[in-house]
Amino acid sequence: MMINASAAVLRAKDGPHAVEEVTLDAPGEDQIVVRIAAAGFCHSDVLPRAAEFPVGPPVITGHEGAGVVEWRGSDVSGIEVGDHVVLSFASCATCQECAGRHPAYCETFTERNLFGRSAAGGSGATDAAGEPVMARWFGQSSFATKAVVDANNAVVVDRDLPLDVLAPLGCGMITGAGSVLNVLQVQPGTSIAIFGTGSVGLAALLAAKAAGAESIIAVDLHPSRLDLAAELGATATVLGGDKDVVEQIRKHTGRGAHYSFDTTGVPAVILSAIQCLRARGTCALVGVQTGDVVLDGNVLLGKQLGSVVEGDADPRTFIPHLIKLWRDGRFPFDRLIEKYPFAAINEAERASLEGRTVKPVLVMD
Ligand SMILES: NC(=O)c1ccc[n+]([C@@H]2O[C@H](COP(=O)([O-])OP(=O)(O)OC[C@H]3O[C@@H](n4cnc5c(N)ncnc54)[C@H](O)[C@@H]3O)[C@@H](O)[C@H]2O)c1
Ligand SMILES: [Zn+2]
Ligand SMILES: [Zn+2]
Repeated sequence: MMINASAAVLRAKDGPHAVEEVTLDAPGEDQIVVRIAAAGFCHSDVLPRAAEFPVGPPVITGHEGAGVVEWRGSDVSGIEVGDHVVLSFASCATCQECAGRHPAYCETFTERNLFGRSAAGGSGATDAAGEPVMARWFGQSSFATKAVVDANNAVVVDRDLPLDVLAPLGCGMITGAGSVLNVLQVQPGTSIAIFGTGSVGLAALLAAKAAGAESIIAVDLHPSRLDLAAELGATATVLGGDKDVVEQIRKHTGRGAHYSFDTTGVPAVILSAIQCLRARGTCALVGVQTGDVVLDGNVLLGKQLGSVVEGDADPRTFIPHLIKLWRDGRFPFDRLIEKYPFAAINEAERASLEGRTVKPVLVMD
């Protein structure tokens, strides 16, 4: 089977994405072919640009795709041609973590999501010259008009819902909301400090509000993002550059916050996220860490610290849960989205990195 697609190929670590024609490798019998309608831009999509990152150009990124099923393999059950699907990360479905419904900790998570091979064992796509292009990013490479995906990482959604709104559920929204609801398990009447109010941090904020948190303190470098955080439910905002971030959070929370959440990955910020906790408080980390964090003997006293992958969510149950919360008006993540035509992918990436757009969503058709 020949699957031709237009895809945004990153050809140099510091170059633009160029939309080109590619041929995707034929799918396996446990896979589906999806016509991508929209794909969100997540900060993790810039990882292949980092000098030390092992996946490099030429690569098609994108891991918050949503679209319509065009073909299904004979081993696929529960998904039909014509179904609307939201794509999430890849997992094996059979290892101990997957069987225990913690697919974000799948024993093969790294291989499948970063170094995945196509059913035939190839890179996933070839370009017009017949050269290989990596097209298995998070099992989807959805900055393209089509994607070959394991049935296992597609979630069927109601056909009356807008795919260009649902797309970011696949990573950013489950990461923020899952960290708050599945891992921190934020309780009503408590306090949480959220460091970094980009898409993951604001998803966490919306989930904390839905969970009944009483104090939600948002910390960011961009005043515009703090304004949005306040509109969406932050009870206090703190500029990340301030010298006394921890003191300000303590002032807003009495003895310190019950929970904290870091999406920045900046060592000094992670330290603040631990310091601002009260005794027996819990800190969850999701940002890609940019350096080592040094913890002195007292800073963790009586506190818990852990890092979280994909909100420890099982997409097949958690994405429908978030859609229900959204429909009930309790998780208005559509407020974070700004739509861009697919051809404007480079502008969308810049707008995200410069803090102008929280969640760019590329619209393919
Ligand atoms: N662990 C996971 O499963 C997972 C999943 C998705 C994303 N991520 C990672 O999470 C991070 C956040 O992703 P995102 O899409 O929300 O990115 P984003 O760029 O939209 O948000 C990051 C925010 O952090 C703020 N920030 C940076 N430095 C700061 C500082 N010193 N003080 C306060 N705020 C600061 C930025 O202004 C920005 O608003 C990225 O590192 C991404 O790769 C991890
Ligand atoms: Zn697994
Ligand atoms: Zn992501």
